[in-house]
Amino acid sequence: MSKAQQLMNWVDDRFPVTATWKAQMSEYYAPKNFNFWYFFGSLALLVLVIQIVTGIFLTMNYKPDGSLIPGTSISVAFNSVEYIMRDVAGGWIIRYMHSTGASMFFVVVYLHMFRGLIYGSFQRPRELVWVFGSLVFLCLMAEAFLGYLLPWGQMSFWGAQVIVNLFSSIPLIGPDLSTFIRGDFVVSDVTLNRFFALHVIAVPLVLLALVVAHLIALHEVGSNNPDGVDIKKHKDPKTGIPLDSVPMHPHYTVKDIVGVVVFLIVFSTIVFFKPNMFGYFLEDNNFIPADPLKTPPHIAPVWYFTPFYAILRAVPSFLGSQVWGVLAMGAAVVVIALLPWLDRAPVKSIRYRGPVFKVAIVLFLIAFIGLGILGTLPPTDIRTLVSRILSFVYFGFFIGMPFYTKADSYKPVPDRTTNATTEQKVRFFIYVAITLVLTALFAKVI
Ligand code: HEM
Repeated sequence: MSKAQQLMNWVDDRFPVTATWKAQMSEYYAPKNFNFWYFFGSLALLVLVIQIVTGIFLTMNYKPDGSLIPGTSISVAFNSVEYIMRDVAGGWIIRYMHSTGASMFFVVVYLHMFRGLIYGSFQRPRELVWVFGSLVFLCLMAEAFLGYLLPWGQMSFWGAQVIVNLFSSIPLIGPDLSTFIRGDFVVSDVTLNRFFALHVIAVPLVLLALVVAHLIALHEVGSNNPDGVDIKKHKDPKTGIPLDSVPMHPHYTVKDIVGVVVFLIVFSTIVFFKPNMFGYFLEDNNFIPADPLKTPPHIAPVWYFTPFYAILRAVPSFLGSQVWGVLAMGAAVVVIALLPWLDRAPVKSIRYRGPVFKVAIVLFLIAFIGLGILGTLPPTDIRTLVSRILSFVYFGFFIGMPFYTKADSYKPVPDRTTNATTEQKVRFFIYVAITLVLTALFAKVI
C-alpha cells in the first residue's frame, strides 16, 4: 500500500472523506440526459466562491465610514473604494470581479430557476430543494441590497433611503421598524456600519448554510432531468444502479468545465471591457459621492431588482397607504416558493405539457422581462398602465396555475430518458432569438 493510501486510510478511520466523496460524487448517479440548463447550478457555486474570495480581499482595504474627509465632500467609505480602484495592487480587478459577480450571480440564478420551472424540478419529491432555493434567492437579494450601500455613492445612499422608507408604510410598527433598520432617523454612518456587518458576515453565513441544505436535499432525492422521468424506476438488477444514469464524477464534473469556460469568457469580457455594462451593473450616479441634501432625479435599483420594483410602483396607494405596493412586491417573491403546491400537472417537464402551460410560460416571461425593463425607467402614465397589466399577468401565472394545469392536456411521458432532437434544438434557438428581438423592441417602444 502506498504512503498516500495509508494516510488516506488513517484519515478515513477518523473522518469520512472517501465515503463522502463516493456518496456525493463518484457514486452519486445522475440522469444521463442533462443538457446545458444543468450548468447553472455549478456556475452559481462558482460565482459564490468568486464573491466570497474577492469580498475578503475588498474588505482588507474598504472602510465602512460615512464621515467626510476634512475639507472635502467625499466620505471615507467612498474614498476607500477609489483607493482600491487606483492604488491597491490588483484592486481594480478584485472590485470589478465582485461588482460583475453580483450581477452575474443573478443572471445565473434566474436561468437556474427558469430551468426548474420548465422541467418541473420543484415538484414532488423535490419540494424542499425548491424551498431552500427560494430562501437562497431571498438571501441573495438581501446580500446584494446591503452590499450596494457600501460604496456610499449617490445611488447607494438614495436607493437605501427609498427601500428602507418602504417599511415605514407598514401600519403601526412601520416608522419604528425603519428607524430600527437604519439605526438612525435617516440613512447614516450607523446604517453603513450595520449594513457592512450584515453584508460581510451575517448574510453570507446564512446563504452558505442554505446552499448546503439545498444540495443535501437534492442529493437525498436525486436530480430531476429534462424529461422529468424517474430514473430510479429502471435499475440494473445486479448493481442496483439506475440504467439511465452516470456517476456525477467524472461525467458531470468534466461536462461542467464546458459551462465554466463559456461563463469565464463572458465574465472576463465584462470585467476587462465593460465593467459598468452601460450603467446596468454599476450605475453612473454611483460614481458621485453620496449627498444627503441632493436627491438624484431618477432613482432606480440595479437591474436584478427591477421586476419586483416595477410591481411595487404599479400598485396605487390605497386609503392613503403605500403598504399595498410593498405587500405586492413581497408576495411576488414569496409566491415563487409556493410553486410545488400550485402545480397540479401529472407530468413534470414542459416537453410533455400541453399548450395552455406553454402559453402561460410565454406570458410569464413577457411579464417578468417587461417589468424588469419598466422598473429601470422613470414612470409615465403609459408605463404605469403597462406595469399594472404585466403585474396582473405575473400573479395570474401563479394564482391560475392550480386551475390551468388541471385543465391542460398532456402527452404520454416516455419510460426512459431521451435526448432533444435536432428539430427541438433548432426550435429552441428560434425561441431565444424571438425573445431577444421582442425584448429589444419593447425596450425601444416603451
Ligand atoms: C446560490 C444560489 C444557488 C446555488 C449555488 C445552487 C446550486 C445548485 C446545484 C449545484 C444544483 C445541482 C446541479 C443542477 O441541477 O444544476 C442545484 C439544483 C437545483 N436547484 Fe439550485 N442553487 C442555487 C439557487 C437556487 C434557487 C434560487 C432555486 C429556486 C428557487 C434553485 C432550485 C434548484 C432545483 C429545483 C434544483 C434541482 C434541479 C433538478 O434536479 O432538475 N436553486 N442547485
